[in-house]
Amino acid sequence: MLSEPQGAGPSTALMRKAYARWAPVYDVVYDKLTEPAARAAVEAAAESGPRILEAGVGTGLSLGYYPANSLVCGVDLSEDMLRRARRKVLRRGLTHVRGLQVMDVCRLGYADASFDAVVAQFLITLVPDPEAALSEFLRVVRPGGGIVLANHFGQTEGPVARVEEIVAPLCTKIGWSSDFKSTRIEAWARRNGVEFIGVAPTFPGGFFKILRMRKRG
Ligand SMILES: C[S@@+](CC[C@H](N)C(=O)[O-])C[C@H]1O[C@@H](n2cnc3c(N)ncnc32)[C@H](O)[C@@H]1O
Repeated sequence: MLSEPQGAGPSTALMRKAYARWAPVYDVVYDKLTEPAARAAVEAAAESGPRILEAGVGTGLSLGYYPANSLVCGVDLSEDMLRRARRKVLRRGLTHVRGLQVMDVCRLGYADASFDAVVAQFLITLVPDPEAALSEFLRVVRPGGGIVLANHFGQTEGPVARVEEIVAPLCTKIGWSSDFKSTRIEAWARRNGVEFIGVAPTFPGGFFKILRMRKRG
């Protein structure tokens, strides 16, 4: 098991720096905004079984949403974010959380097929190599298990798509993403023989989406 991310590139370093700044205010800004999407993602992941990896768990906002019989591991690049997640686990007695570790989602320190599902909320568009992360999710999930992503995905065309592309470099600097399209994930699924179940809109007004895939059994 890795205790520190290995081979962190410049983008990874930027991300850690951004989330060191975000950590103290993250819950105040995002808790209510992301709660419906996080609950929907957790519910979808739990359908595959109790052993769940939450990738990019952050301050652990969603850790209280899992069924009591779950066995949840969480990983994140940012020690500053994870410290807050650990505090929540202790304060709320979340005994279904079995571990929270600093780890790069592109280099997961888990054996193949360790989990029934991998869930990642507001993460995949921030990773420098999202396909590498998805391939790691696929490796650690069992055959028949689920991969669930919650995120804002950019429009594929039209004026909104253009604006999202223009502001993308600024978004990256502050640890956000604006123009990443779900079609990129769909293409990855196709190339890797993963069943793409679909993308469903959620709060607020369909801005966030729940994307579901299944590893073929
Ligand atoms: C927008 S926050 C979302 C946190 C949490 N999932 C939530 O919904 O509240 C993104 C998180 O992804 C983490 N992250 C970004 N790149 C990562 C990587 N390559 N490996 C692990 N975590 C990463 C950040 O440190 C941050 O905590």
